[in-house]
Amino acid sequence: MKRWNYLLGGLALVFLGSQLVPNELPAVESTNPGDIIASGTVPDDVASLLKKSCYNCHSNETEYPWYSHVAPSSWLVARDIRAAREELNFSMWQDFDMMDKLGKLDDISIEVGEGRMPLTIYTMVHPSAKLDDAQRQLIVAWAEATMDVVAEEEDEESEVDEQE
Ligand code: HEC
Repeated sequence: MKRWNYLLGGLALVFLGSQLVPNELPAVESTNPGDIIASGTVPDDVASLLKKSCYNCHSNETEYPWYSHVAPSSWLVARDIRAAREELNFSMWQDFDMMDKLGKLDDISIEVGEGRMPLTIYTMVHPSAKLDDAQRQLIVAWAEATMDVVAEEEDEESEVDEQE
């Protein structure tokens, strides 16, 4: 029995000690003028899917769950959010140029179409973020249609440039 006490005591110390390791969760910004949904190119049904299944990782509007404040899960959350925002940050959409937007939309249609996003580790903890087949289709169709829109906008802009 005594050995177990030592072991549990040791584990408790490691757990408490790990809480002291500094861990910066990426910052939350509630006002994002360059947000993709604010730009008006996302219909309401797609916007609500992106909000529920992607925004916690791929935007500046992360709502951190309780376990993101407790080590060691906080380290994993911080790493995932940082990586996710680096790959694709819906809050910074207007900062991307046309090629970036096209690349990201293409990635979205592939990742969502093949069921790789949202990450399984996330939907296990947040089942309401799961997408069914119809919802996946909706996002894929939107991403593909928006690639045409983005390319056309660029065409129009370069025509204006030529006339000037
Ligand atoms: C739990 C957080 C999380 C959620 C929720 C999430 N992603 Fe991701 N996503 C990541 C991380 C982390 C990466 C970068 C590493 C990787 O590819 O696994 C990523 C990468 C991506 C990439 C780039 C992939 C590549 O390698 O080119 C795209 C596109 C993407 N996600 C789209 C989405 C979309 C769309 C949604 C919602 C339907 C979504 N993700 C939901 C965490 C998340």
